[in-house]
Amino acid sequence: MNVIVFASRKGGSGKSTLAAHLAAHVHKATKPCLLIDADPQGSLTLWHKLRGTNEPAIKTAVTSVGGIIAAAKRDGIEWVFIDTPPNMSAVVEDSIKNATMVIIPARPGVFDVNAVQETIQTCRAARKPYAVVLNGAPARRDDVESPIVTIARESLTKFRAPVWGGQITNRADLLMALSHGEGAREYYAEGRAAAEIGRLWAAIERSVKAIRGNAPASGAMHKQAA
Ligand SMILES: Nc1ncnc2c1ncn2[C@@H]1O[C@H](COP(=O)(O)OP(=O)(O)O)[C@@H](O)[C@H]1O
Ligand SMILES: [Mg+2]
Repeated sequence: MNVIVFASRKGGSGKSTLAAHLAAHVHKATKPCLLIDADPQGSLTLWHKLRGTNEPAIKTAVTSVGGIIAAAKRDGIEWVFIDTPPNMSAVVEDSIKNATMVIIPARPGVFDVNAVQETIQTCRAARKPYAVVLNGAPARRDDVESPIVTIARESLTKFRAPVWGGQITNRADLLMALSHGEGAREYYAEGRAAAEIGRLWAAIERSVKAIRGNAPASGAMHKQAA
């Protein structure tokens, strides 16, 4: 079983959005996924209500996640996705402690990029693999990324943060899907939003395989905190 934690002390960076879209992308009855909503704001819980099915299942965590994760392991859950609040409270620390890998979403702005440092420090202190995912980015034009995204990558490189090479573009489809309780692929399988979520998932899977020692670390997007 693998635990993917979405963390960043910046609100609005895309933790809940990525958790919902990736969970909808990954969940299969044969390889079930469990969501843990550790944010009292309850965005993921709202999406799950709109979805109206219990697939994937969802649990709420207030101060710790260990008990839920142990039960999920017994139940044969393959993937656990934890959405966390935009702070460094006990439940965030505990989620990171239990993570296989931490995804740190960041919008490509100077304040946003700067704000990831605290979450990175927490990952490093807990010796957990992590990667930053640029989210809400301006669309690529003629296959060239926006200068804003390039600048964000450069700043992240300066504090040696590992960054996914792709981007999640700011897209109405991602919002529309959420308002229907769906993931990008369920909403519009051929759309660009679905393609980007699929690419992000492939990168996460590759990293997790490398973390588990089942694939070479070269080409993986994460950094193994030492
Ligand atoms: N890539 C995106 N494209 C369009 N809207 C987005 C994107 N990422 C996030 N949003 C929207 O921005 C808002 C904040 O995102 P959210 O996932 O709630 O952030 P967080 O959970 O980190 O606070 C939400 O309304 C969300 O749907
Ligand atoms: Mg949220």
